[in-house]
Amino acid sequence: MRDINSNRIDLRSDTVTQPTDAMRQAMARAEVGDDVLGDDPTVQQLESMVAEMSGKEAGLFVPSGTMSNAVALKTHTVPGDEIVTERYSHIYLYEGGGYAALCGSSVALPLGENGLLTPELVEQSIRKQKGSQSHYPDGNLVCVENTANRGGGTCYEQDVLDAIAEVSKAKNCATHVDGARIFNASVATKTPLHRMTRDYDSVSICLSKGLGAPVGSVLVGSQDFIDQAHRWRKMFGGGMRQSGILAAAGIYALENNVERMEDDHRRARTIAQAIDEMDHVSVDLDAVQTNMVYFSASKYSANEVSQKMAEAGIDMFDISPTHCRIVTHLHITDEDVNRVIEVLSNLN
Ligand SMILES: Cc1ncc(COP(=O)(O)O)c(C=O)c1O
Repeated sequence: MRDINSNRIDLRSDTVTQPTDAMRQAMARAEVGDDVLGDDPTVQQLESMVAEMSGKEAGLFVPSGTMSNAVALKTHTVPGDEIVTERYSHIYLYEGGGYAALCGSSVALPLGENGLLTPELVEQSIRKQKGSQSHYPDGNLVCVENTANRGGGTCYEQDVLDAIAEVSKAKNCATHVDGARIFNASVATKTPLHRMTRDYDSVSICLSKGLGAPVGSVLVGSQDFIDQAHRWRKMFGGGMRQSGILAAAGIYALENNVERMEDDHRRARTIAQAIDEMDHVSVDLDAVQTNMVYFSASKYSANEVSQKMAEAGIDMFDISPTHCRIVTHLHITDEDVNRVIEVLSNLN
């Protein structure tokens, strides 16, 4: 059972997940209030829950991962600052240039391996106005993405995360984690969330990806940081009223859908291993660490592959001229995996 009313196998993203009946029931039962007036107990419960899980003082419920990152960037920087973020990071590639338009920041874009930065790359990329006769902007914020989406859903090793935070702090930079899929990383690396985020000032965590909630992200950090972020959320129009109905879905997701991500990872791995054994399609198996598989086909462009797969009832994105992306999630079953492998093997 795919849990949703569709006969298509939708591997475009884990954002396509729909609230299950049990989640909808939790939403229907939610106690709500006006959250802009500070009255919604379910939103407060969610914010405290995520703050506690990530070892931070406070949390802020926002409508999307994009807004969560934007609010974080805005809170950490002033116009003219520079943000260090990986060349293929979501913050740089896919958030409409919000860092420039909303923060007035420039970006330094070190190229990592499979979307992952190293302490050396970060250290080399931080520029400071002081000592440069004001030639440089002020590098004041370092962002890491975990898992790294365009890196293939790759995870940071803990000692690398710790070392990046250390070199950043040594250069007086704040640190932010775009943790849209940080629970995938936590499950895959068997590292508790609070340990992963220990040395980072803020973390953005999405509820509406692999966790399966319909809407929402939680930004966490110190109480002082969240107090300032609250103001930017207001200005960005992200203050919501009876949003407990959405927060309830997030609480349900955190209570029920974290450990099961192992199934998503196992299914992605099964597809990747099958691809690896085929002659006409290829994959970097080392980069398949969570719920994503990036692959290419020798005879076809990525666009042709995605069209052929769509004709067989399987949806996926061609993410570049050469590569397609498969993302497993809540609604993808073992039967779906077998079908995907069968169609892919007949592609040549
Ligand atoms: C790594 C990463 N960060 C942030 C986001 C933004 O989330 P949203 O689509 O909820 O704005 C995404 C969305 O896919 C993402 O993959």
